[in-house]
Amino acid sequence: MTITAIARIEELERENQLLRSIIDTINEGVFAVNEKDEILLYNSGAEKTEGLKRNDVLGKTQAEAYASFEEYYFAGDVCQKVIKAGIPLHDQQYQYTLSDGRKTYIAFDAYPFFYKDKVAGMYVIGRNMETMGEYIAKTLEVHKWITNQENPKTTGAKFCLSDIIGDSNAIKEAIWTAQRFARYNSPVMLIGETGTGKELFAQGIHNSSTFAEGPFVAINCAAIPETLLESVLFGAVKGAFTGASDMPGLFEQAEDGTIFLDEINSMPLFLQAKLLRVLQDRIVRRIGSKKETPVNCRIISATNVDPFSIDNDEILRSDLLYRLAKVTVFIPPLRERQGDVTFLTRHFVKRASSKFGLVTIDVSDELLSLFESYHWPGNVRELENVIESAMHFVGNEENVLQFKHLPLHFRKRINCKSTSSYSELPSSGNTFSGTLREIEKRLIKDALLRNAGNISRTAKELNISRQDLHYKIKTYEIKK
Ligand SMILES: Nc1ncnc2c1ncn2[C@@H]1O[C@H](COP(=O)(O)OP(=O)(O)OP(=O)(O)O)[C@@H](O)[C@H]1O
Ligand SMILES: [Mg+2]
Repeated sequence: MTITAIARIEELERENQLLRSIIDTINEGVFAVNEKDEILLYNSGAEKTEGLKRNDVLGKTQAEAYASFEEYYFAGDVCQKVIKAGIPLHDQQYQYTLSDGRKTYIAFDAYPFFYKDKVAGMYVIGRNMETMGEYIAKTLEVHKWITNQENPKTTGAKFCLSDIIGDSNAIKEAIWTAQRFARYNSPVMLIGETGTGKELFAQGIHNSSTFAEGPFVAINCAAIPETLLESVLFGAVKGAFTGASDMPGLFEQAEDGTIFLDEINSMPLFLQAKLLRVLQDRIVRRIGSKKETPVNCRIISATNVDPFSIDNDEILRSDLLYRLAKVTVFIPPLRERQGDVTFLTRHFVKRASSKFGLVTIDVSDELLSLFESYHWPGNVRELENVIESAMHFVGNEENVLQFKHLPLHFRKRINCKSTSSYSELPSSGNTFSGTLREIEKRLIKDALLRNAGNISRTAKELNISRQDLHYKIKTYEIKK
């Protein structure tokens, strides 16, 4: 081999090395197959998204490589289309379940590649939608930060989605949904019990959206008297009613921003009809005026009862519900967030320690397990308040937060919840089946209590059907 040929091979090797390390550094997943559908290239982005290892898939056909996945319907149609027709496919999406049960959503483009004027295979560049949502949210946050530096003004929303703390899959899924849809204009409905963080989510969605630079206008529909709510929302003109002066409503004030309709379930039905018109026609008319004003704002609403549950079908008109809930974010109650009680406890203790100028103190195992078994009807707000109060009782020389530091009212409550034991059950003639029935009855009663008598939620928590639950309530003569 001549010296120039060797030099040329080295040059190609270097180039090849460079291209491979670039392909491995980018965030997109890239894979390529030859015309026989054997995998030639599989980068680390694809490894991260799909949870497979490059060495396990290279050289295999897609059917072999993805055999461990529950569903995988990508290879057949896309590869064949691209390889046969020799033309790229853009903006495709697909979803499949990984071997560990997680669902993955991918947006991708697929391209044929040519060698000596013939299609020699194809390659795919895919973006994991979850990661994409995070990038977009981060980019918008950076953008907002830069704009605020240049033009400091408050929009009324100080929280970002990244301020929502939690490590459970349940909360991560809610954050992910919020992130994913934040940048679209569609109305979002937040559904969650009191204290689960609906306000945080609303502000976070606003700050991650294209409306972030506009105002964030929040109104609690339950806090304003019915007679005033209409004028507060839509505005009024002078003389429209006694004492009325010219004033824009909140919809007008939220122009180019977000209006957050909190506790929408408390809105009277006649106003729901008017709100529906605003959503349909995107115009508002101040009370007493004939003039119609176009409105351009993102609508976020929140409710602490599930409006999709049959038990609650009268709180929101269904035509309004489907317009407000183009996207729904179910924010799970704290008791359903596996591991979050401990995670949040440590977070709040750390935050309070630094607020009180203490070194971060530890939390006793006994306290953590009591917290984990408590059902937290007031959710994160209750936990946050309990910890803030308890921290006042930690002496200077102490370095562990313990049960004794908790406020008295909470100690009583948590004790009475955690001491319920089988020995307290009525004897039921002391037969095994009688005792079992008593236990079942107790479990149902407790679950109903936790869910404020809501049949759907209770059935879901107990993992039985609604019919089953109705039957048992009747049999055991439980009062809802
Ligand atoms: N995931 C979380 N991470 C950190 N703080 C949280 C989280 N969720 C809630 N909080 C805190 O809990 C408190 C209650 O949250 P928020 O006001 O958003 O609840 P909410 O769902 O709007 O309640 P309500 O229905 O009673 O109005 C706030 O102080 C908030 O900062
Ligand atoms: Mg709230």
